[in-house]
Amino acid sequence: MSEVVYLNGEFMPLENARVPVLDRGFIFGDGVYEVIPVYSRNPFRLAEHLCRLQSSLDSIRLANPLTDAEWAKLTREIVARNEGDDQSVYLQVTRGAAMRDHAFPKGAKPTIFVMASPLSTPSRDQVENGVSAISATDFRWHRCDVKSIALLGNCLLRQMAQDAGCVEAILFRDGYLTEASASNVFIVCRGVAITPPKSHLVLPGITYDVVLEILAANTMPHEIREVSEQDARAAEEIWITSSTKEVLAVTTFDGKPVGGGKPGTVFRRIHPLYQEFKRKVMRQAA
Ligand code: PDD
Repeated sequence: MSEVVYLNGEFMPLENARVPVLDRGFIFGDGVYEVIPVYSRNPFRLAEHLCRLQSSLDSIRLANPLTDAEWAKLTREIVARNEGDDQSVYLQVTRGAAMRDHAFPKGAKPTIFVMASPLSTPSRDQVENGVSAISATDFRWHRCDVKSIALLGNCLLRQMAQDAGCVEAILFRDGYLTEASASNVFIVCRGVAITPPKSHLVLPGITYDVVLEILAANTMPHEIREVSEQDARAAEEIWITSSTKEVLAVTTFDGKPVGGGKPGTVFRRIHPLYQEFKRKVMRQAA
């Protein structure tokens, strides 16, 4: 069965989906998106993803073309029309097609695109042994809180990681940790899980919030504060979090082992708690 996608009011096979070349998403990267993990056909943290979509749309001054109820219906419908119980739903809204001019066009109709693909979470080997990351200078813009489809900076950084045989690039701006090319970052120092605060320099991750909630609910020591590059390099543990990576240990950083070079004790506690949390939420949704 070929993948079914939604484009501007219609469901169709992926290969039939077409947008005009003057779409501002294509010309300017003028649009925003969300990636929502779906477990057992239930979208995880859907309300939070839709809330972040609204905030991204507000930031780029684009009216939300759908209500949350319509987005929720559409998300469930795309899941139902595609194969597999665990999926990753991608939602994208652009400012639509108009003659090329940087200033916003009047009367353009936003382009709405939704697709689903099989959810690819970390392998057992990645969970048990962790992954490698490199460091890089965060050279992106100053509105990383907007989930913009203009991801060239993130793509260049992610490719740098891939070229080095690594899964992620962990980013520093002016000597401080921001996030990674496609995930948020936590470190563990003297048993305390630490992550930078939300700001215009990081994406407010949905998984970041889930991990903080789990830490709090289990009275595991944690702190939200600026993390210097020095602290990050001396950390006992480094984790990356995202909707598709969930929570994953980085065990090699710039070619050196992190802590003992194996996922640390705090990770070995948080990872099963995350899996349990997910299962609980899914049972409630079913
Ligand atoms: N990326 N930071 C960046 C730059 C990201 O691209 C992502 C997610 C995150 C984590 O956010 P969340 O926990 O809400 O997934 C942080 C998605 C998965 C992507 O672009 O594919």
